[in-house]
Amino acid sequence: MATATTRLRCLLLLFLVQLLLLLSAAAGARWQDFLRLPSEGGDAAAGTRWAVLIAGSNGYYNYRHQADVCHAYQIMKKGGLKDENIIVFMYDDIASSPDNPRPGVIINHPSGGDVYAGVPKDYTGEDVTVNNFLAVLLGNRSAVSGGSGKVVASGPGDHVFVYYSDHGGPGVLGMPSGDYLYAKDLVGALERKHDAGGYRSLVFYLEACESGSIFEGLLPEGINVYATTAANAEESSWGTYCPGDDQGPPPEFDTCLGDLYSVAWMEDSDVHNLRTESLKQQYEVVKDRTSAHGTYSLGSHVMQYGDQSLNGQSLYQFIGTDPANDNATFGRDNSLRRRSSGTVNQRDADLVYFWQKYKKSAEGTPEKAEARKRLLQVMSRRSRVDSSMELIGSLLFGSDEGPKVLGAVRPAGQPLADDWDCLKAMVHAYEAQCGPLKQYGMKHMRSFANICNAGVGEDAMAKVASQACAAAR
Ligand SMILES: *[C@@H]1O[C@H](CO)[C@@H](O)[C@H](O)[C@H]1NC(C)=O
Ligand SMILES: *[C@@H]1O[C@H](CO)[C@@H](O)[C@H](O)[C@H]1NC(C)=O
Repeated sequence: MATATTRLRCLLLLFLVQLLLLLSAAAGARWQDFLRLPSEGGDAAAGTRWAVLIAGSNGYYNYRHQADVCHAYQIMKKGGLKDENIIVFMYDDIASSPDNPRPGVIINHPSGGDVYAGVPKDYTGEDVTVNNFLAVLLGNRSAVSGGSGKVVASGPGDHVFVYYSDHGGPGVLGMPSGDYLYAKDLVGALERKHDAGGYRSLVFYLEACESGSIFEGLLPEGINVYATTAANAEESSWGTYCPGDDQGPPPEFDTCLGDLYSVAWMEDSDVHNLRTESLKQQYEVVKDRTSAHGTYSLGSHVMQYGDQSLNGQSLYQFIGTDPANDNATFGRDNSLRRRSSGTVNQRDADLVYFWQKYKKSAEGTPEKAEARKRLLQVMSRRSRVDSSMELIGSLLFGSDEGPKVLGAVRPAGQPLADDWDCLKAMVHAYEAQCGPLKQYGMKHMRSFANICNAGVGEDAMAKVASQACAAAR
């Protein structure tokens, strides 16, 4: 039986080879043009597909970022990417968190299944850092510390997809350990990757508050990078499937399950034959959902940056397609016009968690007292950061001008700062006096950039920060 099948296969193969030889002779082409190894991806233009997926936060109240990234992994995997070409960064403190009502499981939709199973743990815990992320992106194995050592070892014919889900602020993205990722360094790495012949084209999907500021005025055209962001340069992005929403999580979850822009691109990718859907078509679907169908109430402006000429490329080139969706062709009217679910401004999503904890614990218990304490701590920490920045503005520019200088927004197309080393130095000067900005404090990055743009030096900053924070202590 087995031999018969084998013989049949051999005959078929022989027939195919003859046919190919005939065809190539006719067209004057080489057999290599016809015969491709399966590992080469199946269509001539594809090269190898690589993906870098990163959640830049930790903590159960940030459940959604790691849930997003796990979900993205499942899409890549079903799309046909191989584990050796998918690199995942996640702190990995969610599935086994004592707060997780479903131990060992992560979901990204109120009625969704587990997205955690099978996710490779390339870079977890303290290995989720700016240095490792950039080294992985650049394919520089010797610059990586810890983790699996997997890097994007891509070549000039390859396609690279990067997805980042996190908190951010003007010009920065968060990391659970170490320094922030500054826009200038990220864009610089993309340019270097391009110059080194590291890809044919690269798509970057970015979920974070003020995520437009990462590329605005910084990402050049002509390096075959196409980026979309959850928000423009000056607004927050939105968490979704949050407690209290009309489409909230199961009641035992005290945290948001996803982010609006992120679930918009992923739930669209989950159900379509991605050979038939272009980057531009997905952008339109995601923009519609993320803007709450164009109302922008509880929603944000999805933006496009870089080489718009890539708009027409199919998603398949970058993230493959799930064979189960082969008949689900993308079309305008079959696209997911899902009801807008409730959302929470990303920056307030941790408050929702602490509030839920407080609300749910029984009156008079130590849990209630503890939850109340944590909520108040978070709120007072926020107001301390805000008032220290306000005071710094007044000390530097006077109480009338201070708020205007710090709050100034540059016209679209201009980067946040001219001198990014100055921005970093300002942030360090502040943090040395006042403590870390952390995920909430990142919202003040524009103020630091404006202080630099106004020509204030590092020493002057250190001096007023010390005054301002001594007053706040
Ligand atoms: C890789 O990283 C190492 C260590 O940071 C650095 O010395 C080296 O120049 C990098 N290689 C490339 C090709 O950028
Ligand atoms: C697609 O449709 C064809 C024809 O109806 C069918 O044979 C095939 O099984 C379908 N494929 C999937 C993945 O549903």
